[in-house]
Amino acid sequence: MAKVKTTFFCQNCGSQFAKWQGQCSSCKQWNTIVEEVIQKEVKANWQKQEKSVSRVSKPTLIHEISSETEKRLPTSDSELDRVLGGGIVPGSLILLGGEPGIGKSTLLLQISLKLPYKTLYVSGEESQKQIKMRAERISQKNSNCLVLTETKTQNIFKQIAEVEPDILVIDSIQTLHSDYIESSAGSISQIRECTTELIKFAKESGIPVFLIGHITKDGNIAGPKILEHMVDTVLQFEGDRNHVYRILRSLKNRFGSTSELGIYEMLSDGLREVSNPSEILISKNADELSGTAIAATLEGARPLMIEIQALVSTAVYGTPQRSTTGYNAKRLNMLLAVLEKRAGFKLAAKDVFLNITGGISIDDTAIDLAVIAAILSSNEDEEISKTNCFAAEIGLAGEIRPVNRIDQRILEAEKLGFTTFFTSKHNKISLKNTKIKIVLISRIEDLVSHLF
Ligand code: TYD
Ligand code: MG
Repeated sequence: MAKVKTTFFCQNCGSQFAKWQGQCSSCKQWNTIVEEVIQKEVKANWQKQEKSVSRVSKPTLIHEISSETEKRLPTSDSELDRVLGGGIVPGSLILLGGEPGIGKSTLLLQISLKLPYKTLYVSGEESQKQIKMRAERISQKNSNCLVLTETKTQNIFKQIAEVEPDILVIDSIQTLHSDYIESSAGSISQIRECTTELIKFAKESGIPVFLIGHITKDGNIAGPKILEHMVDTVLQFEGDRNHVYRILRSLKNRFGSTSELGIYEMLSDGLREVSNPSEILISKNADELSGTAIAATLEGARPLMIEIQALVSTAVYGTPQRSTTGYNAKRLNMLLAVLEKRAGFKLAAKDVFLNITGGISIDDTAIDLAVIAAILSSNEDEEISKTNCFAAEIGLAGEIRPVNRIDQRILEAEKLGFTTFFTSKHNKISLKNTKIKIVLISRIEDLVSHLF
């Protein structure tokens, strides 16, 4: 009988240890190390076998390597295509992470049904009936989509050899199980082994593989960072489950930019692509309310107008509260300090709440000016006209700094019917004959004198 061997793995970073310890010495996380059973002997045999067939590659001069661009398979879903960088690259492994219930299975089933290629949708989570019900809900018809409920990788590969699909979808990596490893499905060693087998399969066959991965409470892809290192592309599906909007973000992409973003709306019949996000992110409320300002931001190559809401009120308790949704709390504190020190606003004894509408989180520092405008508007209780929008960064000295791709932001604002655009006077604007009025400012005082 093969000897059973156990090893200790860190659930966070995937490091391996000979014995248990309270803190992982590589990622410094506490209580993340668990014991897993692995069967060394079998694995050793398999690896030996693998070595004998592996091909030896030779060094090549860089100028001799063909620079032909990768051929890509378009998915007929423009949001996904953009996030992937123009379609699926053959032989690539794409990991789609997200919290349970956010819509990962819906997204990939919908794409499998839409694709003009033969797709094999392997599910270890749902029965064929459940998948059929979901497909009926999405109401897409396709005669090229095969469904397999299986969790053992060896069996999956056997089926693939028979049906020869063009695209493989695995729902989810945490349910897969390989015979070469003893530990239970979802454990680090199983996830690592199954992913390795899938990578080998994808690279050798040129068939792209979509992997669904669950996310832990703290937002990591469960099973670990190692999974992110192994795959070509990591996509994250996020959003507030109470909101209808879902965002597809790329965290890593070997074949494209990681700053792209796809927006979907979850309807009763599946996910709908949102091709003009600015319109949905700005409330249609006709009344002008204090504490609201509109920022012209960029997500990837796409300009996006978003609404920022602030509430400033007198603190009830000794320590005032500062709370943000969709915005960096440290940056809010910095902006409040700048307002206090450089522009003379007394905000130290006030609670400040900041919210970016639509459940979206924004990193672009160009929304600083709109954040400040919203805070001042709430503080003064004076509304800002809905035809104004803002794009500039704020420096520690209270100066208004330029932002990148200003022309694109102005054009988007003009297209959506804004009439005044506030930005830094140090911006290099090359646009001529714009209908929108551009107000160039250099200090926070200028903003105050224009608005209130
Ligand atoms: P699902 O794709 O099962 O999530 P995941 O695979 O990420 O766990 O999506 C589940 C949620 O989506 C569920 O709460 C129902 C909702 N939903 C819709 O609102 N409309 C639809 O057309 C479908 C299929 C699901
Ligand atoms: Mg699912």
